[in-house]
Order: sequence, then C-alpha cells, then structure tokens
Amino acid sequence: MTGHRHEPPLADLPPFAPGFRWGAATAAFQIEGATDAAGRGPSIWDTFSHTPGRILEGATADVAADSYRRYRDDVELLAELGVTDYRFSISWPRVQPGGSGPANSAGLDYYERLVDALIAAGIAPLPTLFHWDLPQQLEDAGGWLARDTAARFAEYTGLVLDRLGDRVPRWITLNEPAMMTLQGYALGTQAPGRALMMGALPTAHHQLLAHGLAVAAIRAAGTAEVGITNNHTLVVPASGAPDDQLAAAAFDLIYNRVFADPVLTGAYPDLSAFGIDGFPGAQPGDLEVIAAPLDFYGVNFYNPTRVAAASDGSEFAAAGLPFEPVESADVAVTGFGWPIVPAAFADLLVGLQDDYGDRLPPIVITENGASFPDLVVDGAVRDGERIDYLDGHLRAVRHAIELGVDVRGYFVWSLIDNFEWAEGYTQRFGLVHVDFATGERTRKDSFDWYRRLIAAQSR
Ligand code: NOJ
Repeated sequence: MTGHRHEPPLADLPPFAPGFRWGAATAAFQIEGATDAAGRGPSIWDTFSHTPGRILEGATADVAADSYRRYRDDVELLAELGVTDYRFSISWPRVQPGGSGPANSAGLDYYERLVDALIAAGIAPLPTLFHWDLPQQLEDAGGWLARDTAARFAEYTGLVLDRLGDRVPRWITLNEPAMMTLQGYALGTQAPGRALMMGALPTAHHQLLAHGLAVAAIRAAGTAEVGITNNHTLVVPASGAPDDQLAAAAFDLIYNRVFADPVLTGAYPDLSAFGIDGFPGAQPGDLEVIAAPLDFYGVNFYNPTRVAAASDGSEFAAAGLPFEPVESADVAVTGFGWPIVPAAFADLLVGLQDDYGDRLPPIVITENGASFPDLVVDGAVRDGERIDYLDGHLRAVRHAIELGVDVRGYFVWSLIDNFEWAEGYTQRFGLVHVDFATGERTRKDSFDWYRRLIAAQSR
C-alpha cells in the first residue's frame, strides 16, 4: 500500500490509567527459524508445514523471521517502540526435544539470553509457555487427545521455571486453546491436521487441565503472576430468525464458552444441544484444577463473526453442526478478508464483564492487529489501514474501560511480519516489515504511530 504518510491525531485518545501495559506480541514458531539449532526437536508444526499441500505456497518456518539469530535486533526495535512488555513464546521442543525427560539446557539458553536482553532494555518479558508447537513425539503418543500430555506440560513448565522463574514477572500458560482444538484436531486446517470434528473435544479438556496444572506449578515456584490467553469473537446472528439465533448461540458455546467457562466459572457449558452429556475427558477434580484463580485473563480479538443456521448441503451440515459462519456484507476487511468492526471489540469486552462479573480477573488484550499486503517503497511502508485498524480498536478498548471493564494492557499482534500458520508468509501483521529472503527489517508507518502513542500515553 503506497500513499501519504498517515498520522491520525493521538491527542484525542484519552490517557489510559498509569501502569497500563503497552506491548507487542510474537510466537516462537512464527518468528524464530533455526529449527535445528541447539538440540531442538521437531514439533507438530514442523511436520505439518513440511507436508505438501498444507501451507500456502508450500512455505515452511525453517527460517521464518530468523529471530533466533536476530533477537537482539528485535529487542532494539521494542526498546525504540517504548513498549513496557514483550509477549513472546517459549518453544517446548527447544526445552524438551521429545516433550518429556530432562531439560535441553542449550535450548533454555536462548530464552535466557532473550529475557536478559529484554530486562536490560527495561522491558518486562511476558512469555507464553505454549503457542501451538507441540513436540512431535508427544503427538505420536496421542497429542492433546492424551491426558498424559497435560502432565507433560506441567513438567515442562517446571523446567522453564527452574531456569527463568527468578526473572519473569508474568506468565501466560496457553495461547488460544480453541484454535488448537478447532483447527488442529476438529477441522484439520492447522497442525496436527486431524479432522475429528466433535471427537476433538477431549483436546479442549486436556489443554485446560494442562493450563491448571501449570498455574499450580507457577504458584508453587514463587510470586509471579499468571494468566491464560483465549481468543474471543463477538458472535452476531445473521438474522432475527430463530434458527439463526440458535445457531449463533451454539457457535458461541463451541468457540468462546467451552474455553472460557471452565477457567472462569469452574464448569463447562451445557452441550446437550450437540447431544453431548458431560464433557469428554473430564474426570472428578479436574475442574477445580482448571479454575484456579488467575491474576489476569488474556483476550485475543480480531473480528466479529456472523453466524447463520447451517445451510442444507454445506460442509457444516454434513458434519452434523447446526451453524455456519457467513460473510458480512458491506464491511471493510483486512488483507485476510476479516471484517473490521471496532465497535464489536467494545461489545465483546462488555459482554465478558456482564457474563463473568466478579469472576473475571483484570483483562489484558494479549493480541489485536490486522494483516495487509504491505510493500516497501523507497524504504518506507505506508500502512495507513493498519493504523486505522489499531486506532479504532484501541478507542474501543478505551470505551469498554469507560463502561467499567477492567483492562490493564494492550499488545499489538505483531511486532514483526511472520509465518502466519497455514497462510505461510502471505499475511503480514507486523509493525515492522520483514523481507523473508534476507531477514531485513523495515519499520512501517504503524511502528512510528505506535511509538508516538506510547510516548504520549507515558507522559
Ligand atoms: C492468533 C494467534 O495466536 C497468532 O499466532 C496468529 O498469528 C494471529 N492470531 C493472527 O492470525
């Protein structure tokens, strides 16, 4: 996107509370590359991305944004941006190449270097312990369908804490368990590529159990804060027709509530509408572990979803599902085709507050952002559409705060362009452009915009 430098006024964005966390986010598999370095084992995403036909244009993340080698450049960018926090993820197969057994010390060294560089730059590290790169050996033993994977995750968490627990003030256990279950095990559009439809539900429970066991390990190790990151969408019925309303409620159950209710209320939602009685895989006592109190609740938000009753002959109807996401007419979209509706973000946040009330810990927006087909022209990237997206969504957060929602931080997805999973390198979400052939980083206009915003908010 070319054109004029785009600088919407920042002055009318009222100040957020002192102490509000301003950050940017990434994930290990999407940025690091160096998949063979220092004894790292293969993950399900290595396997999936090396399987022909799975990733657009046959891309792999073997090099990605090369951050394993260029992490100092990334920390410099973060320091220049002025963020208070950096959300990144720790690659389980670097720490435990096969997903069990002793720590691979050389793998932990990388994260120690990164954490120390962040702290030296005055930036608080916010590691996510699991952002989808499950060790392949664990998948071979059943992956998240196996209850044992939850115990393995707690063990891995302990190994990370042994090395970094004295320096990390806040942890995120899981990133978007809903996507792992729905895309990874139900539809098969992401790793590990299983298409089990409702048979994927135990993977939701085992991930949530893993979360609860990791919270216990973090509590036992010290005073660091802990939260989980769930993705949420605002579900909008396609019409007022009863079928569409019911379909929207069913979609909301599967996408949002299965993953939020157990953590925030200690109970699964009623799935009898799907003919399911009792949550698959759950055992007595598990929900108490899963519902352990959290210091913050991480929310990833990108767009609302319009949902209609599954139409006859659709793949949804064929799979026995009552719903079907449908396109919104007349709405601007991102490069991904995702609708841009900032007001939906405020509605979502207020809805979480209404639904969970006192049981909802302070919210941190752990991801929000947009992809556009950014081009470097004469050394600059004029990404005014991204600035508009971020500006609109931050104003929505601000509005939700004014309506009484306790939001304590906001992280842009993403610091740098990266490997967008099944979309390969075709969707650029960064504040910083990456030339994937050379690793070269170029600040986009949105980088300068966010830098000025954080500076203005910190005054
Ligand atoms: C959510 C995921 O956590 C992240 O890995 C992904 O790149 C973004 N959404 C954009 O799709």
